Amino acid sequence: MKGTIGSVILCLIVSLQALAQNIQLPAPHKTGGMPLMEALNARQTKRTFSSKPLSEQQLSDLLWAAFGMNRESGKRTAPSAMNRQEIDLYVALSSGLYLYDAKQNALTQILGEDIRDKTGKQSFVKTAPVCLVYVSDDERLKMEFYTATDTGFISQNVYLFCASEGLNTVVLGSVDKDALHAAMKLKPTQHVILTQPVGLPPDMESKQD
Ligand SMILES: Cc1cc2nc3c(=O)[nH]c(=O)nc-3n(C[C@H](O)[C@H](O)[C@H](O)COP(=O)(O)O)c2cc1C
Repeated sequence: MKGTIGSVILCLIVSLQALAQNIQLPAPHKTGGMPLMEALNARQTKRTFSSKPLSEQQLSDLLWAAFGMNRESGKRTAPSAMNRQEIDLYVALSSGLYLYDAKQNALTQILGEDIRDKTGKQSFVKTAPVCLVYVSDDERLKMEFYTATDTGFISQNVYLFCASEGLNTVVLGSVDKDALHAAMKLKPTQHVILTQPVGLPPDMESKQD
């Protein structure tokens, strides 16, 4: 009897820990921001980052802008060929690797380790608090041209959001994709397309502080 109660308590603790590792994001702000023409004028690549983490609100807004759901039908803020929605956004943080669940507006933890150093060959990937990893899945669409263009739309949404929010970002093609694929424990049908670190400029505090 004692053993059974012990096992149940252990199971509960393990389940609670597993739940605690996922992050339920606050609802994204879908209004405000910089006027579009000003954001286009401000969009640029910036390769320096503060190590300060983004707030959960900033993360939620960033991910929604990138590839969130913007219609009841489940369609997204970026187009995708034949609406296959084959690009997944993985989010590398110091606390681990997460998968963006656009429907639930949540981050599902995939790994408990920090793999940001594998997301690019340039040293700033270790400093930026967030690195987005764009991953295609052949099971949803196996057409390289389309998976590349679909990733580009998402990346540009991130660029414009960053321009609007005063965040720095750079899209990266110079990535050891095999090493990153292995570190992320992806399936053979999944492919890393590009990565994109995001963070505050090194000399600035968060707008939300
Ligand atoms: C597909 C793609 C891959 C890129 N890869 C890298 C990269 O690995 N490292 C890097 O520092 N910049 C990379 N960039 C950023 C470009 O160097 C940058 O966009 C270009 O210099 C123009 O600057 P701008 O974005 O400020 O207009 C990449 C851009 C694209 C579109």
